[in-house]
Amino acid sequence: MSSATHGGPSLPQERRVVTEIPGPKSRELFARKRAAVPPGIGTTLPVFVTHAGGGVVVDADGNSLIDFGSGIAVTSVGNAAPRVVERVTRQVADFTHTCFMVTPYESYVRVCEKLNEITPGDHEKRTFLLNSGAEAVENAVKVARHATGRQAVVVFDHGYHGRTLLTMTLTAKNMPYKHRFGPFAPEVYRMPLAYPFRWPTGPENCAEEAAAQAIDQITKQIGPENVAAVVIEPIAGEGGFIEPAKGFLPRLAEFCRENGIVFIADEVQTGFSRTGHLFACEDEDVVPDIIVTAKGIAGGLPLSAVTGRAEILDRVHVGGLGGTYGGNPLACEAALGVLETIEADDLTGRARRIGEIMLPRLRALAGKNPLIGDVRGRGAMIAVELVVPGTRDPHPTAAGEIAGRCHAEGLLVLTAGTYGNVLRFLPPLVMPEHLLEEGLTILEKAIGEV
Ligand SMILES: Cc1ncc(COP(=O)(O)O)c(C=O)c1O
Repeated sequence: MSSATHGGPSLPQERRVVTEIPGPKSRELFARKRAAVPPGIGTTLPVFVTHAGGGVVVDADGNSLIDFGSGIAVTSVGNAAPRVVERVTRQVADFTHTCFMVTPYESYVRVCEKLNEITPGDHEKRTFLLNSGAEAVENAVKVARHATGRQAVVVFDHGYHGRTLLTMTLTAKNMPYKHRFGPFAPEVYRMPLAYPFRWPTGPENCAEEAAAQAIDQITKQIGPENVAAVVIEPIAGEGGFIEPAKGFLPRLAEFCRENGIVFIADEVQTGFSRTGHLFACEDEDVVPDIIVTAKGIAGGLPLSAVTGRAEILDRVHVGGLGGTYGGNPLACEAALGVLETIEADDLTGRARRIGEIMLPRLRALAGKNPLIGDVRGRGAMIAVELVVPGTRDPHPTAAGEIAGRCHAEGLLVLTAGTYGNVLRFLPPLVMPEHLLEEGLTILEKAIGEV
């Protein structure tokens, strides 16, 4: 059992497996979870966490696991990151809530000022704050509809935008996100995504052909003059870390500009240095009209943001936007701590370094193991897509089996993908390199054994 009384980076940065995983205490807690929580709330790895920090998660049995998940791309600055802890601790003693719409406070404004400054584009911007990624995506669509007076929303194959009524409608995958939860929201149209590994005529033509198809379908089926917004993830996250072929995003953004359509970048998963840029759109110099952020913004406290052109966001009438908890003072302080940490500790550079370590090792492995069809990603957002050897047929059972083997060895990995056949890696950007290398060794072994 860990002797640590606090999480954060001072936790011993080591993998330590002292029981089977999950151990007896976690199994006991999991039995209570099953009795108290509906099964719709799934569990990737049923260990119950007591501490976390740096690159590790420590469980109730004293196992210390290498964290390749960051709570699904949230704790990029590490769990219980010092600047976050310090600011939140101070704030919790000062006041915990007033509702920004009732009596405001400075930290909310400061977060918005910072986001207006650091998001792509030097146009005049506004930001407002909410609680979750889904809530922010919904609000971005509301604002785009209000500003344009149009209704249609265009989304893409393999997209994921959340679990609320509108955002599950925007999401591509039926199981588990949509199955039996209809009817869905109206005026949502889905277009092909430039998915290089699976593009029928090959990756070389992918960007051009996919963009042409999307634009043709929008033109024929909806009419650009009816489209309020195009909503797209610069790298499809839950869909399997699909980096659209280069050229696809700029072409879409250009089409939006030409037709008065609001281009909304959903950077909920890719934002805040994860991909080796502060925001993934920067990779191709795409400047969205609205950028939606959450997850990595506040080190684990619930916060999300909609940032966009002042002339779009300023249109909405007083009281049309908001929510009781949006931009809660604790979450705002956490976000300020995150932004300071990103800058002071060069976490964008750290993300790039993680990619430089992971990608060559995974590519070398792919050269030796025909289960790996594709290795992709940028920075600390890396994935391998598993296939039936000698084909491109998705191999979801291999993904599940490899993840299970990693978990048993004390390496927390996540799966993803429309076909469930992708292993995705999202280490905290503060992950020590020895843990990163050790995690990769465990992964290589697990893939080799399947
Ligand atoms: C790209 C993207 N958009 C939206 C969401 C929804 O965010 P939340 O789960 O905070 O509602 C997610 C969550 O995984 C996401 O990855």
